[in-house]
Formats: sequence, structure tokens, C-alpha cells
Amino acid sequence: MNISVVILAAGKGTRMRSRLPKVLQPLANRPLLEHVVATAESLDANSICVVYGHGAEAVQEHFAGRPLKWALQEPQLGTGHAVQQALPHLGADEIAVILYGDVPLVQAETVRRLVSAAADGPAILTVVERDPTGYGRIIRNPAGAVIEIVEEKEASDEQRRITEVNTGLLACPVKLLGPWLDALKADNVQGEYYLTDVVASAVADGIKVVAVSADSATEVMGINDKAQLAVAERAYQRRQTAALLEAGVTLADPARVDVRGALACGSDVYIDVNAVFAGDVELGDNVHIGPNCVISNTRISNGSVIHANCVIEEALVGENCNVGPFARLRPHAEMKQGSRIGNFVEMKKSTLGAGSKANHLTYLGDATIGENVNIGCGTITCNYDGANKHQTIIGDNAFIGSGVELVAPVEIGAGATVGAGSTIGKDAPAGELTIERSRQKTISGWQRPTKKKQ
Ligand code: UD1
Ligand code: CA
Repeated sequence: MNISVVILAAGKGTRMRSRLPKVLQPLANRPLLEHVVATAESLDANSICVVYGHGAEAVQEHFAGRPLKWALQEPQLGTGHAVQQALPHLGADEIAVILYGDVPLVQAETVRRLVSAAADGPAILTVVERDPTGYGRIIRNPAGAVIEIVEEKEASDEQRRITEVNTGLLACPVKLLGPWLDALKADNVQGEYYLTDVVASAVADGIKVVAVSADSATEVMGINDKAQLAVAERAYQRRQTAALLEAGVTLADPARVDVRGALACGSDVYIDVNAVFAGDVELGDNVHIGPNCVISNTRISNGSVIHANCVIEEALVGENCNVGPFARLRPHAEMKQGSRIGNFVEMKKSTLGAGSKANHLTYLGDATIGENVNIGCGTITCNYDGANKHQTIIGDNAFIGSGVELVAPVEIGAGATVGAGSTIGKDAPAGELTIERSRQKTISGWQRPTKKKQ
């Protein structure tokens, strides 16, 4: 498509009552504007131009390195004035598509329909609102043709009863739009240059204005305050869960799963209540996610089970693994096939070999653990000396007793056994029992202290 997208994002957003500019407010962990930019990118446009103003630095900084064009609008004199600032970035033979930075749920398919209707003149996106208060109304002649958009503040009582409203989104050939924008006057109640006035200009020039309907009011909802942001968040999440269900994922309760990023699932995945997925998460076939899990930027392979209350971040879980309940996998934790991490176990920058287990109350940091190793309850890799991190290496088939401290750097040989309660600061040889403990003694006749009388 020979289009260029203009995203209006200069408005202040006072009603957010936040220091963060409106278009940077988060929807599913990403700024509102990011959603609109992503939709624009999916349209194969020649260029995407963001009209910015309020919170300029923060907004531009967030999108640093992205192939966007920027048009500063200062001061902000209305939507028509905003599009005018972007005109130098638009090609005369293109169709300009105007999106709003605070209308994040609009679907690419809807925008494509709008563009298809704008080959020879303006196409506006409209929707029927049960309560049209605040919106521009679509005025049609008796034959049903669109003749004008009247803003709420200028509308007569009769016009205010019209429920078909302007979503603000429109598409128009640039060679028509340019002259109409240049001719705009701010002779209205708000003293602004209204983009919507181009509709009347088109009609005056004998050019037909096509109205395209949005799929739903939700799709085109504008976000002005936190209440609307919360409504949009739920709508966005409903879309995510509908797609998961459609793909065959079983959700214990679609209303209690949040996807703040991209979640890819294999077949027969089960997700229990209160799961939060962030960033890129991939779940293989037959993966089971228990209740109350928070999982971000992680891959979990076929057949693995994550029990209740686990927090997993930037980890790799191999096939048929078991995690939790109450486990924490931190960045660069890697579990190989068939391994287990049990309750109150924390793992960071460590590899747990195939079939190995750390079932209870353990910290594994900067460790490389071989296959079929048993890590006893309460084992700690002492990886930090106060200044630097050091490695613990444990060979295949080793057995680490309960309550062992492994003071890194240290290596436990293959098949070695480490006695419970040992503090191991020197390498333990393969195949042998190593134990570090003072000899047990009994002091006979010893009395417990008694409480002194006052
Ligand atoms: C606009 C439309 C109205 C429509 C409504 C839908 C006009 C005159 N009116 O009204 O018909 O029903 O949207 O929500 O277009 N912006 C700028 N620079 C400006 C002014 C606005 O970038 O000078 C941006 C805002 O950041 C926002 C968008 O344009 O993303 C819409 O601005 P807003 O002030 O909310 O428009 P409305 O008056 O609500
Ligand atoms: Ca000890």
C-alpha cells in the first residue's frame, strides 16, 4: 500500500494525573503509543510520523533507534494543526493515514479497510456510541451521505442526539488533504484548527467522503484517564485470552490470565488462575502452569509442570521438568530434561543437568551441575565473596547432603558424596565421600540455665 501513517501524540493528558506523558502510560506493560506504532508498522507504510509535543524528550527517548519520523507541534493548536506539522514528511502520491497515540486498540485490519475506502477522497472511521457525549458527530444529508463533522461544543441540540460519532481516525490522499489543511480556520468555540473540518471542505469541492465503521466502540476507545486505561487493559487482555483459547490452550479462567507481551503455546497447554506472562514466553506441548505464577522471557519445553506460586524470569526449562511450588528461577537459570527444582529453591546463572534434583530450600548461583545429581535440602552455593562471583561445578551423579555450603570457586567430582552439614571450600574428589564437620560430642551432666528470681 502506498501509505504514510501520521500518529497524533502531542496532547498533554492532564486527566492521567501523572508525570508520565499520556502516550507513555502502560497498556499490557507497553506504552500506549507503542501499540499504535506496532499497528502502523504492520501496515507496510512508507513512513510513520509521530506528531509530538508534551513530554517530548521522554517520548522520543523511548523510541530511540526506531525508524520513525518526528514532527514537533509547539504550541498545540488542534488536530488539523497537528497533521499540518507532519505534511512535509508525506509524499504527494501517498494516502495519509491519521491514527491517535491514545487510541491503542485499533486493529490493523480496520485501518486497512479505511485505507481501501480512501482511494479517491477522505475516508473517516466512525462508530455508534450509546453515549456520544464529547465526540464529534457525523452529519449526513437526507440521502445518507456524510456532509460534515460537528464537534460537541458547536453542535445543536438536535445534532447532539446523533449517536454516530467520529473516532478521529481517517485516511485521505495527501494531494487533497494538503490544500484543505492549509485552508483551515480556527473560527470555532475552542479556537483550534480542527482536522474534522476537512470533511466539509471535501464536500464543498464535490468529493465524496466515505464513512467506514469500526468493529466495536472498544476498538476505537480513546484513553484520557486511568479509569479508561483500566477498561482498555481488560479489553486488551480479553483479546489475548480469546486468541489463546482459539489456539486450543486451556485456561482455568480467561479473566484471570494476563499476557503482557507475546505468549506462544504448543498443544494441550493448561494455565491455571492468576498467571502473569511478560515479554516473550514460549510454552511447549503439554506444559502445565499452576496457579499464581509470574513468568517472563522464558521458554518452557514439552511436558514440564510449573507448580503453584513460582516466579520465573529469563530461564530455560527443558522437557519434562518439575518446578515449584514456590520456586524462583532468575536470569540464565537452565534446567535440562527431567530435572526438578522444588519449594523454596532459588536458581540463578546456573545449569541443572538432566535428571538432577534440588527439591528443597536451596540457593544455586553461578553453578554448573551435571546429570543425575542430588542436591540435598538447604544447600547453598556461596558464590559471592563480597566483591566477585565464583563458580561451583558439580559432576554427574554427585550426591550433596543436606545443609551443605559450597564455597566457590569449588568443584565436586563426578559420583562424589558430600556429607550433610559440610562447609566445602576445597575441591572434593570424584567417587569419594568428603565430609567437613567437627566430631560430635556429648557433655554429660550438663544443666540448662534456669531463670533467675527477681
Ligand atoms: C477529536 C475529534 C472528534 C472526535 C474525537 C475522538 C477534532 C477536532 N475532533 O476530538 O471529532 O470525536 O477526537 O476522540 O479532531 N492532538 C495533537 N495536537 C493537538 C490536539 C490534539 O497531537 O493540537 C492529539 C492528541 O494527543 C490526541 C488526538 O490528537 O491523541 C485527539 O485529541 P483530542 O484533544 O483528544 O481530540 P478531541 O477534542 O477529543
Ligand atoms: Ca555447617
